[in-house]
Amino acid sequence: MKSDHLVRVGVLGAGAWARAAHLPGYRRDPRCRIVAIADTLVDRARIPLALANGSELVERDDIDLVDVCTPSHTHFELAWAALEAGKHVLCEKPVAYDFRDTLRARDLARRKGVKTKVGLTFRYSPAMRYMRELVAGGFIGRPFIFNGYEQNSQWLDPMNPLRQVDPDADQSILQVSSLEGYGAPIIDLAHLLVGSDLTQVVGTMRNFIPERMVRATGRMMRMNIDDGDIFLGEFASGALCSVQTSFVTVGNYPGIEARVFGSNGALICRLVEEAGICETLRAATPDRVEFRELDVPAWCYPPGGSRHESWRTLFYANLISSFIGEIVNGGEANEGDFGDGAWVQEVINAVERSFRERRWVSLPMDD
Ligand SMILES: NC(=O)c1ccc[n+]([C@@H]2O[C@H](COP(=O)([O-])OP(=O)(O)OC[C@H]3O[C@@H](n4cnc5c(N)ncnc54)[C@H](O)[C@@H]3O)[C@@H](O)[C@H]2O)c1
Repeated sequence: MKSDHLVRVGVLGAGAWARAAHLPGYRRDPRCRIVAIADTLVDRARIPLALANGSELVERDDIDLVDVCTPSHTHFELAWAALEAGKHVLCEKPVAYDFRDTLRARDLARRKGVKTKVGLTFRYSPAMRYMRELVAGGFIGRPFIFNGYEQNSQWLDPMNPLRQVDPDADQSILQVSSLEGYGAPIIDLAHLLVGSDLTQVVGTMRNFIPERMVRATGRMMRMNIDDGDIFLGEFASGALCSVQTSFVTVGNYPGIEARVFGSNGALICRLVEEAGICETLRAATPDRVEFRELDVPAWCYPPGGSRHESWRTLFYANLISSFIGEIVNGGEANEGDFGDGAWVQEVINAVERSFRERRWVSLPMDD
């Protein structure tokens, strides 16, 4: 793409997350402009061009980038249609429930010569960016152990209806929920920070809150979903990890913590909004074992950004800026693409299998 050309963006879905994170991100980046927004509830789409029909948006020839920010069961079909139409695609996670579908979409993007990005929000937080830089520069030496958490109390109250559940699902079977919705970004960070692929996982899931309000019916019903889960993993490098996700554990948003311990040092990054601050990074070394807070350098922040800003706009501004830069600059650079999304989804699929079959599961999954 020519660098003097503004990236023209079409957004699918004008719900809570699009308004809180995606749209402010595009408005902050002078290299792009929003051309159209489509939502089946067309009143939500408003400006600049409001459409009710996603296909109409995808087919327009004045759009370069399609952003899929709709409920998760619609992601794959919409992303696939946008790729078929030759658009760059940003898609909220998961691209698909089965990692093999995400791989097919990655391959379609390659054939079409377009770039993809998954909404793996937390790898773009300024503090996490700096943590990645420190790890790559050898600060911790060889990674031994990664501990990851994504947890908060968003759905501890059963009267707060979950948006994306299937009320017709077989309630005798525990359905994957937190592991997928909350697990994806922290699994992605494990991959990035350890710098190796997982070879084995074993995990378990639980349903702690049995009945919930269903938005569609306005009534309480049995909802056998995983609202908390834990797994262990072994990496090809020899490193180990533990990962815990839950949306019924008391604590504030977004609730990410990534700890990595290596041969020369340790880093702990917390993305939890507390006392008006949304991220902290702390470090220890063998000669200074008391963890101390590090200053995150200015280059990690989007223009005008600071750790006092809302995590939603701060982290997503970096994500959007990363994608627009990758499109404008051309070349191979494309971090957090559908290939990375497929890797994350394969781990989720393997942990689910481990739970159902009560055993360790090998990766890559070979069936
Ligand atoms: N990456 C993150 O940190 C993060 C955080 C929150 C939400 N999300 C994801 O963002 C996505 C949207 O979540 P939300 O909270 O905004 O949901 P929401 O229900 O508030 O909004 C979804 C919108 O999509 C519209 N829609 C549904 N089907 C459509 C279609 N086929 N074409 C066009 N519009 C359609 C709905 O009318 C609604 O306005 C979900 O996949 C969610 O998991 C990601």
